[in-house]
Amino acid sequence: MPDIHSIVVLTGAGISAESGLATFRGPDGLWEGRRVEEICTPQALAADRGLVLDFYDQRRRALAGVAPNAAHEALARLDAEWPGELLIVTQNVDDLHERAGAKRLIHMHGELLSALCERCGGRAPFAGDMIGGPRCGHCDADALRPDIVFFGEMPYAMDHIDRALMDADLFVSIGTSGAVYPAAGYVQTARYRGADTLELNLEPSAGSMMFAESRLGTASRLVPEWVEEVLRAD
Ligand code: APR
Repeated sequence: MPDIHSIVVLTGAGISAESGLATFRGPDGLWEGRRVEEICTPQALAADRGLVLDFYDQRRRALAGVAPNAAHEALARLDAEWPGELLIVTQNVDDLHERAGAKRLIHMHGELLSALCERCGGRAPFAGDMIGGPRCGHCDADALRPDIVFFGEMPYAMDHIDRALMDADLFVSIGTSGAVYPAAGYVQTARYRGADTLELNLEPSAGSMMFAESRLGTASRLVPEWVEEVLRAD
């Protein structure tokens, strides 16, 4: 492995699949007969608030019954033991990376365990159900929504992620279909800046040919193997 100083890891729903959480574009990516993508929009929230809040309430509840798997644990180990620069960027809204112990972590698409106030823009940790109308702890408005980046909204921490990609000498994409931008474009940014690129996924993603190397298999097998390689080479 060449000399690596700075790594950006991107994760998607595939890393949590073996923990029992459904992916978006797999066969189980439907909810009440609708594509999940149709529910995760500001328009859906405006048209049927109860439906959207219920969708996320169910997902928040599901977190109680799942646990990090070997892939989350391996990334947390990398975070703890690797002395170089590292940023784990997850598209996932579950909390499995942090439960495994990852610290250098960004949730670019928001978090189930956070609430966003539509009135004041305040964000705060949130557990429980949103249906039933808990109020904003900042401004007391009855205007809380899931702190989730819906389709058409701006992901979080874009500047931070772009800076990390500019400095990265290795970009690794794990368990994502490469269907949703801007994350799907990170491999091109990293390549353009001269970084090595590696994909770890069950099947080739939409942008698979952009990666210098693509390893196919389950995250619970591939991620611990790759982390071991990085730590051994250091
Ligand atoms: N190990 C590795 N990869 C897996 C596994 C596994 N055990 N199981 C599934 N995968 C792969 C699938 O082959 C697929 O390529 O994970 C990928 C999951 O893709 P998606 O369901 O499209 O999820 P993701 O890429 O995270 O979606 C991106 O889309 O709907 C939005 O905001 C939502 O963050 C999400 C974004």
